[in-house]
Amino acid sequence: MASSTVDASTPATARPEVVTEPRTEPLVGDWAQQRRHFTWESARAQLDGLPGGHLNIAHEAVDRHATGPLADAVALRCLHRGAPTTELTYGELSRRTDVFAAALRATGVRAGDVVATLLPRGEELYVTVLGTLKAAGVLSPLFPAFGPEPVRERLSLGRARVLVTDAVSYERKVAPFRGTLPHLARVVVVDTDDPPPGTVAWSELERLGAQDLVAHGTHRPLTRPDDPALLHFTSGTTGRPKGAVHVHEAVVAHHATARLVLDLRPGDTYWCTADPGWVTGMSYGIIGPLTRGVTVVTDSADFDARRWYQVLQDERVTVFYTAPTALRMLMRQGSDLAHEYRYPALRHVASVGEPLNPEAVLWGLEAFGLPVHDTWWQTETGAIMVANVPGTPIRPGSMGRPVPGIDVAVLQRGPDGRAAVQDDAVTVLHDPDAVGELAVRAGWPSMFRAYLDDPERYARAFADGWYLTGDLARIDADGYVWFVGRADDVIKSAGHLIGPFEVESALMEHEAVAEVGVIGKPDPLAGEVVKAFVTLRAGYEPTPRLQRELISFGRHRLGSVAPREVEFDQDLPHTRSGKVMRRLLRARELGLPEGDLSTVETPS
Ligand code: PRX
Repeated sequence: MASSTVDASTPATARPEVVTEPRTEPLVGDWAQQRRHFTWESARAQLDGLPGGHLNIAHEAVDRHATGPLADAVALRCLHRGAPTTELTYGELSRRTDVFAAALRATGVRAGDVVATLLPRGEELYVTVLGTLKAAGVLSPLFPAFGPEPVRERLSLGRARVLVTDAVSYERKVAPFRGTLPHLARVVVVDTDDPPPGTVAWSELERLGAQDLVAHGTHRPLTRPDDPALLHFTSGTTGRPKGAVHVHEAVVAHHATARLVLDLRPGDTYWCTADPGWVTGMSYGIIGPLTRGVTVVTDSADFDARRWYQVLQDERVTVFYTAPTALRMLMRQGSDLAHEYRYPALRHVASVGEPLNPEAVLWGLEAFGLPVHDTWWQTETGAIMVANVPGTPIRPGSMGRPVPGIDVAVLQRGPDGRAAVQDDAVTVLHDPDAVGELAVRAGWPSMFRAYLDDPERYARAFADGWYLTGDLARIDADGYVWFVGRADDVIKSAGHLIGPFEVESALMEHEAVAEVGVIGKPDPLAGEVVKAFVTLRAGYEPTPRLQRELISFGRHRLGSVAPREVEFDQDLPHTRSGKVMRRLLRARELGLPEGDLSTVETPS
């Protein structure tokens, strides 16, 4: 049983450190020693690789296990509400993905073509992801709760050639726009043998693939480490979603951190609750854990506290990776519910995506007998950069320390912000506890290699050999990193990044809306929720009915990223250049000082 002690040397102002005795000896015992000895070359050498220095994510995740002692071990166990659980062994997953890769070949998909998914968590999603990577395609996962607008935008920006989805999503979110997507050559529908016009059934695709496999053998083109593999869309303050491009070499970091941070080893049953439409669900819901030969549990059902405890208990989950919003939702139901179930197999709980309250770290101890280990990273970093690694003391409220192979610092940009970065003029702040922009020294294997079609924006993200993350943080004297906030207007709701511009653009399409500013409003459960301030066109009355209509309009267009609240405001604050000042809207909403208003246009 894990036990916890409080380290008396902790400064009086901080929360006590949590030191737990691990239930099983962690794979990485001494963090400091690991940091000294770790190299990315040695991490790369742990992988199988392919002839001639080639490397392929799907080979490392599936095929290398399919011919060894893990061939009959369960790779994937997919749970569903109201439908039977399905399982695939590593051997079966290898064969199914071979069929899918051959089907892509048979239908004319070439290396580098983008294959997008808009699917619930089930076998077809995992087969599509890994089969595409095997075939040297670029996989672009879309979050299934997106509405039609974000789906259309991402399919269009990514120039997706193939989309794999289900019939309802197709009819509602893609068919109405299909004519605006000239690159989309093929849509595969997984849940019917009678597919909508213009689409092909999954069963038919598999039949084609099986035929092609017999005729031409497996389709496993050799990929180079720097060949594009994944296209993840993420949000910024301005403009459209950014397509972060990751390459096959990223698997070096997935594989290393799955051991260093998640402590994964063969025989583990591992559950990552993030959807593969987001980077966590891809890097640590699929790739990292499979490269470690574990059994990955997935659940297509929505959050339900009782169900989650049941899954942890019945599946005998050993390592659990989740998010602060989910933990807060569990906490809200009280630890009595947690205690109705038993978790003797569980040995490690970790979290990512948004600030993890110290209370949640400690609640883990109460509910599971294990503290929650916070980890920090981003879509752009591709893998965990900062973490509380198993077996080392946790400082509740801190995101932990940089993982082996990663250097972080807090930086100050030059006096005029952006220009300083362009001039490479950044200063590393060495004072413990100085707040600055969190930066990662460039060059780790899962570093994003481009923002799709936007080399300038990519270049602006780097200065003096550092990647600037857009987060504000401080680093204490012992190297623990503390999250302070975002340096920009991006909204974080339930762990998902939401670009205010995307939401504003969708609302602007409503005939009553003249102008709109969108902010993240603090919320005890989701961290933030989206709130829109709307100026109405002449002739429209600010009625509760119109408010409801705008919320439902947003919901219909945007899905899960829509505003929860709409407030009418005929006098939105603007900068002198005419942009709505979201920062000021947020300060007003929170009752905070309004700060430097020198750039605000004063209403006359
Ligand atoms: O602001 C930070 C927040 O999530 C952002 C990255 O979001 P995304 O690219 O969607 O990736 C999320 C999962 C990898 C970061 O810039 N964030 C992530 N982890 C933490 C966090 N904020 C506070 N604490 C964390 N542990």
